[in-house]
Amino acid sequence: MKVILYMAITVNGFIAKEDDDASFISKEEWDSYSAMVRTAGNVILGHRTYDIITKQPEFKEFENVKVVIVSNKSFEPLGKKHSIAGSPKEALGLLSNFENVVVAGGAILNGSFLKDDLVDEIYLDIEPIILSQGISLVNGSDFEKRLKLLGTKKIAENEIQLHYQVIKK
Ligand SMILES: NC(=O)c1ccc[n+]([C@@H]2O[C@H](COP(=O)([O-])OP(=O)(O)OC[C@H]3O[C@@H](n4cnc5c(N)ncnc54)[C@H](OP(=O)(O)O)[C@@H]3O)[C@@H](O)[C@H]2O)c1
Repeated sequence: MKVILYMAITVNGFIAKEDDDASFISKEEWDSYSAMVRTAGNVILGHRTYDIITKQPEFKEFENVKVVIVSNKSFEPLGKKHSIAGSPKEALGLLSNFENVVVAGGAILNGSFLKDDLVDEIYLDIEPIILSQGISLVNGSDFEKRLKLLGTKKIAENEIQLHYQVIKK
């Protein structure tokens, strides 16, 4: 199983504004992310991201996708193919029959997956914007990760995708 972290970030490393506004994310970026998730057939989301993304009309593209929400709380997921896991490892256990697994934020979830050394590859789509404040790519975990650049791709007129391998300890 390959675990892929997929995120859109500002040039200075934010994934959203402090009020969760991520309207700077381009249509091309969403399409690229959506294709990755639909091809993998699954996505792992933090509870806050799940609450936000399921309100967006584009989320209906994930009708056939198995969604795992990482949370310590107990609640009723919104879809038949949605389930809750209490930790990143438990989330991966629920998806053990998939070849590729997509981890898609937010910051707290990204931090816990990276800290536990569970991410194999990272895709970062660099939105052409700098924000003075915002929610960082990772939050709440203390670690350092070295990366190997596997490739770059231009996905929109002003947008580059970086593809990294995480160097495991
Ligand atoms: N730019 C992008 O590509 C992108 C992608 C995704 C999200 N976002 C943005 O990111 C922001 C949300 O990020 P966030 O960091 O605030 O929240 P988050 O990571 O989406 O969710 C945090 C919650 O998820 C659960 N969780 C995360 N890690 C856990 C772990 N290791 N074990 C158990 N539970 C865990 C906890 O839920 P409980 O409190 O229920 O226990 C925690 O409070 C939003 O603004 C969203 O729009 C941007």
